[in-house]
Amino acid sequence: MIIFGLDLGNKQTKLFSTKTIGNGDNKVEGKVLPSHFLYYDDLGNAETSVFGNKLNIRKYKTEFDDEEYGWGPDLHKVHNNENLLDTIGFEKRYSTHEFKLLANFALGELAKDFEEATDNILAVNVVTGVPSDDFNESSVKDLIKVLNGRHNITIDDVSYTVDVKEVQVIPQSIGTVYNELLDNDGHINPEKEYYLEEETTVVDIGGGTILIDTLKNMNLASKTQYTTGIYTLYDMIIEKAKDKGNEYSSLTAYDLEVILREGNDDKGYYFKPNKNVTLDISDIVKRVRARYTRDLINKINKTIKSTSSTDTMLLTGGGANLVDRDEIVARYKFALFAENSETANSKGFFKYGKAVMNSDEEAAATVEE
Ligand SMILES: Nc1ncnc2c1ncn2[C@@H]1O[C@H](COP(=O)(O)OP(=O)(O)OP(=O)(O)O)[C@@H](O)[C@H]1O
Ligand SMILES: [Mg+2]
Repeated sequence: MIIFGLDLGNKQTKLFSTKTIGNGDNKVEGKVLPSHFLYYDDLGNAETSVFGNKLNIRKYKTEFDDEEYGWGPDLHKVHNNENLLDTIGFEKRYSTHEFKLLANFALGELAKDFEEATDNILAVNVVTGVPSDDFNESSVKDLIKVLNGRHNITIDDVSYTVDVKEVQVIPQSIGTVYNELLDNDGHINPEKEYYLEEETTVVDIGGGTILIDTLKNMNLASKTQYTTGIYTLYDMIIEKAKDKGNEYSSLTAYDLEVILREGNDDKGYYFKPNKNVTLDISDIVKRVRARYTRDLINKINKTIKSTSSTDTMLLTGGGANLVDRDEIVARYKFALFAENSETANSKGFFKYGKAVMNSDEEAAATVEE
């Protein structure tokens, strides 16, 4: 069975699957896309421009909505922030129409690399995760309802059909640890086996939320969720910039997301409200980052109170790239930053799906004997 790992985050959608190619090897597919989109006609002629590079944005259409939508990694390049349809939300997110659209686009996006999805129906199992506060019966039910069953998604006028046979929802933080523990085939990496018996605190710095979860022997022992994800850092930067003058007034969180990704401390961070003006916001970024990091450490301290029993603290989520890492390691000697932290969860979900499949197969083999 094909496994799709989906992390439908507040800010970004992370997708993971593998596909067997001609020589029997697996091609690994990790994708990062925004968790927002727009009406396709709002793209104007940005997408059809003859000159310059074609943007990586495609046209998505589902069966349950008459509209066509534009979605893709290059959405930020069209400078149409006011028309973006967001899926960020803290209440009842999984039952919104926008979330349902995003989930269907995500399934189509992974399915489009499989020939079966065009000629026939692609059967898959989905593994996804939710922030620990959403790990309750009603949220999990809502999420399963959105993902389960048959989906038809048209991407750039090609139709793909996916049949989701099974949906597994696990706490997001457990996904992060599975990513450390398992290889791409779902087998335990002997060098990481200690996670099975240790106390691990996962700090997931996402776009909307910060999760501080403690696992003992891979079971969720305590969970705390804060709503001060990276959008809070963006808001703090915007507020400070706007205090400096009117020329900063058009700066948005979508702009900042790109500015922080493209810049670094050596090159600096620059806001370009139009092609003739470049504003240096490096000082603001550094000051706000220091504050945000200090606040994060404060939250971790309050949450885990005693670190004497913690074996490992694992920092993950895209936000792990935006905090002052030295400051965190200076405070917690046992802190580790997940490799490719923004995609660690989705990859962990995928590996978890593989491990479950392996153990089902083993159980079936034992029965047959
Ligand atoms: N290397 C990087 N440099 C700069 N910013 C980054 C980098 N990687 C991720 N980000 C930013 O970190 C933020 C958080 O990303 P992430 O994908 O973890 O959020 P999310 O999972 O959607 O949110 P949540 O977990 O709250 O649902 C995003 O705004 C993203 O653009
Ligand atoms: Mg996340």
